Amino acid sequence: PAGVRDLLLGRIRDVADYPVPGVMFKDITPLLADPEAFKVLTETLADICVQRGATKVVGLEARGFILAAPVAVSAGLGFVPVRKAGKLPGATLAQSYELEYGTAEMEVHAEDLASEDRVLIIDDVLATGGTAEASLQLVRRAGAHVTGIAVLMELGFLGGRDRLKPALRDAPLDALVTV
Ligand code: PRP
Ligand code: MG
Repeated sequence: PAGVRDLLLGRIRDVADYPVPGVMFKDITPLLADPEAFKVLTETLADICVQRGATKVVGLEARGFILAAPVAVSAGLGFVPVRKAGKLPGATLAQSYELEYGTAEMEVHAEDLASEDRVLIIDDVLATGGTAEASLQLVRRAGAHVTGIAVLMELGFLGGRDRLKPALRDAPLDALVTV
């Protein structure tokens, strides 16, 4: 809804020339520091969990954790972290993905997801879509069903939604704010 979008957008700060000259960084820390806005964000994402019939919430390290953990608690669901490589102690599945320069890898504990799980994947930002695409692959390789991806913010000009389209299949991509 427009009211929610405007409230959230009003708490996202533009930082010019960060991390490099010419880039306008979208800083969500003012939103996180505002208890009303953070609550609205959490409840809006928890509503999406209910709509999608989610049984688990997957959050993407690091900024996705900040959003996904309270959403899982609010929705009464378990939280499963997708971590950057080398941080999880158990048996993991790993997926590499492309960054602007080079590649990165993320992992999930295979035993945290089961074939009956319907997973909502949560992250803060969809930019090029590489992170989201890798997480989709990880969840499916763990045998679970992706019931949707939800992000606070989509950077529309980077074309992440189009890139993600084939990988999404029938899973909806919800962005609360598009810039
Ligand atoms: C940022 C952001 C998303 C991702 C989006 O994470 O939090 O996860 O980039 O970019 P993409 O759509 O082009 O993949 P980043 O890896 O910078 O680090 P952080 O979350 O650990 O801060
Ligand atoms: Mg991230």
